[in-house]
Amino acid sequence: MSETNTFVIKGGAVLTPSGAKTCCLRVSDGHIDAIGENLDESGARIIDASGMWVVPGLVDIHCHLREPGYEEKEDIASGTAAAARGGFTSICCMANTNPVNDSAVVTEFIKRRASLAGPIHVYPIAALTAGLQGEQLTEVGELAEAGAVALSDDGKSVKNAQKMRLALCYAKRFGLKVISHPEDTDLVNGGVMNEGYWSTAIGLPGTTRAAEETIIARDCMLAAIENTGIHIAHVSTAGGAEIIRNAKRLGAAVTCETAPHYLYATDEWVRDYDTNTKVNPPLRTEDDRRALIDALLDGTIDCIATDHAPHHVDDKNVEYALAASGISGFETAFGICWTALVKTGLMAPEMLFDKLTSSPAKILGLDAGTLKEGGTADITIIDPDAEWTVDSSKFVSRGHNTPFSGSVLTGLVKCTIAGGEIAYGREWACR
Ligand code: DOR
Ligand code: ZN
Repeated sequence: MSETNTFVIKGGAVLTPSGAKTCCLRVSDGHIDAIGENLDESGARIIDASGMWVVPGLVDIHCHLREPGYEEKEDIASGTAAAARGGFTSICCMANTNPVNDSAVVTEFIKRRASLAGPIHVYPIAALTAGLQGEQLTEVGELAEAGAVALSDDGKSVKNAQKMRLALCYAKRFGLKVISHPEDTDLVNGGVMNEGYWSTAIGLPGTTRAAEETIIARDCMLAAIENTGIHIAHVSTAGGAEIIRNAKRLGAAVTCETAPHYLYATDEWVRDYDTNTKVNPPLRTEDDRRALIDALLDGTIDCIATDHAPHHVDDKNVEYALAASGISGFETAFGICWTALVKTGLMAPEMLFDKLTSSPAKILGLDAGTLKEGGTADITIIDPDAEWTVDSSKFVSRGHNTPFSGSVLTGLVKCTIAGGEIAYGREWACR
């Protein structure tokens, strides 16, 4: 028997651009048919969402899917399944694959693999320079035509400021945004965690925050001079946020993101040398964490992106200095943000949803992030009161690398619908 593709989601707080209200939402043939009261239920499967938030499918503009080339860490099928479990329906994947996504062939390959994997929308971000080597700019026009939604050498910074300036120029002509990974590797100088009390206390080489902040400042100035936009990835320091706050005041078209782990954990978490705490940029101090929350609240930080960076156990099961950087983030992102920001009373739910849906979509011009009649049925259903314990052994991502296993979080994704298909939570929806 073929399954109906018509649903009516009933009883939840439905978040539309005009605010949240308890009502119904009808999905048919991949689209949102109607939002309102007393909707036609004929032929529809009823999803009872009482007590839940019904929000736009979450949008992540910074993740690593590892395919092609590093399928032992993740592939597009496992990565999109993890995204769905995390409530994400649209994700943008970085170019540090093997081969690097610096050509139309790789961009097209990723899109094809994603369409075979399932209904999650995958948007490739192409490299800014060939092989992420920071020298030869990529063929921006071809990449844009192939479907790249932005350009970034993420994982590496573009060392040469003149190259970055030229890249901003070319990207602007083709309507693509450049995403800066702000890290001066000379200043990193072999550091493997935040430089400060904890690096001294536990005897690991520290990285000065200036390694991040000097490049944030440089790239804001370059964007202002070229009169173009730029997006700064994974802002982790109070100073970085302050530089961006000032650049915005001066009229620069800069946007930025931070990642959930910087809002929840600090460099104190490194004290037991758990390599799952190793991430780049590194976990910072409690002052930084608080400053990042303030910067989200005042609009300096536009959005939250996971920087989902899955690794194989062998990449982490080594001494701290040698371990790969990154946290497998899709499946904990929402719970971490809700717990750190909303449960604490620091942020209204609507603002958090904005930082995870319409704001990131707007930054890269994606048609996603709002619930509207006639729009694609990308919908996430969330239980705001559910308490749950992170268990990394249950991750559907191939990367089990998280420092948050065992953490008790509040706020749980129950069901993710992408393009009108249930991508996660079928059992709950059909209960
Ligand atoms: O921790 C990180 N991991 N930061 C990056 O910028 C790259 C990423 C990765 O690709 O593993
Ligand atoms: Zn990065």
